[in-house]
Amino acid sequence: MSLNRNKITIVGAGNVGASCASWIIERNLADVVLLDIPETKNMPKGKALDMLQMSPISNTHCKIIGTTNYELTASSDICVITAGVPRKPGMSREDLVATNQGIVQTVVKNLTQYSPQTILIIVTNPLDSMCYVALKASNFPKNRVIGQAGVLDSARMRTFISQELGISVENIHASVIGGHGDEMVPLIRYSTICGLPLSHFLSKEKINEIVDRTRKGGSELVNLLGISAWYAPGAAAGFMVEAILKDKKIILPCSAFLEGEYGLSNLYFGVLGILGNHGLEKIIDIPLNEEEQQLLKKSAGLIQETMKSLK
Ligand code: APR
Repeated sequence: MSLNRNKITIVGAGNVGASCASWIIERNLADVVLLDIPETKNMPKGKALDMLQMSPISNTHCKIIGTTNYELTASSDICVITAGVPRKPGMSREDLVATNQGIVQTVVKNLTQYSPQTILIIVTNPLDSMCYVALKASNFPKNRVIGQAGVLDSARMRTFISQELGISVENIHASVIGGHGDEMVPLIRYSTICGLPLSHFLSKEKINEIVDRTRKGGSELVNLLGISAWYAPGAAAGFMVEAILKDKKIILPCSAFLEGEYGLSNLYFGVLGILGNHGLEKIIDIPLNEEEQQLLKKSAGLIQETMKSLK
């Protein structure tokens, strides 16, 4: 590995992990180690070699290796965890909890042994509960264990608004907070188009339709694909990696460990936070009206329910 490039490990060389790896090296952001279980045999190596062969075409210089050996992940700046089983039609993210808890615990123990100073970005579902599992298994401070959900959910909402209006996604800002489940909370009041409220462009009915489609955005894709999505989830995790590596201090919706913020404690929950070199550097508490608070409470209730089945 080069001395002057950052190093990112991605655990889980499946659909989301490989998409994330590809997003990172196409942007020349960092060297990547793509790791999977020995049962996958040469699959991670094959995917890494395939991606490496993109570099002459995209004129990039990052190295990528595929492996099943944690020793090669040593001193990673950031580790992205996508290891686990994805959902199939008819399943909720919560249905994955038992299997994925064990996987996340093992992965975190292995990673932190070789990269004790790393920042963990969790993607495995059910997201908020898996972040909690990772926090406990790593014993890391909370700023170094962050979940990817809101970047994806907000991107989905921006896409739907853009499709509806024929206005560039660049002009559209959407804030989706809450748990990464069907009870997530798209904040209409804090979503804007070129600084103007959504209601300037869209009827109440249309806004409600978009909110509903955003909430069920993951399920829509599971039904189309027969398995959960990967391009946008991989890119969303890559986007967070970039924000941290470049010390952007950008405010993004992330799953964060709450200790009183938003009136909630002892759980991971999607909120706004500043991402920089130290990971999730600050949680931004925002004023919410009665209706928004009720929606958040409902969403938090779902996560607390899932967390009860953690062993
Ligand atoms: N260590 C490392 N990798 C593992 C482990 C483990 N203990 N257990 C499973 N994996 C690997 C699998 O071998 C597989 O290659 O994780 C990968 C998961 O890839 P996919 O099955 O393609 O699933 P994907 O669509 O990438 O989703 C992964 O992200 O968005 C979430 O809900 C999704 O929880 C799921 C995760």
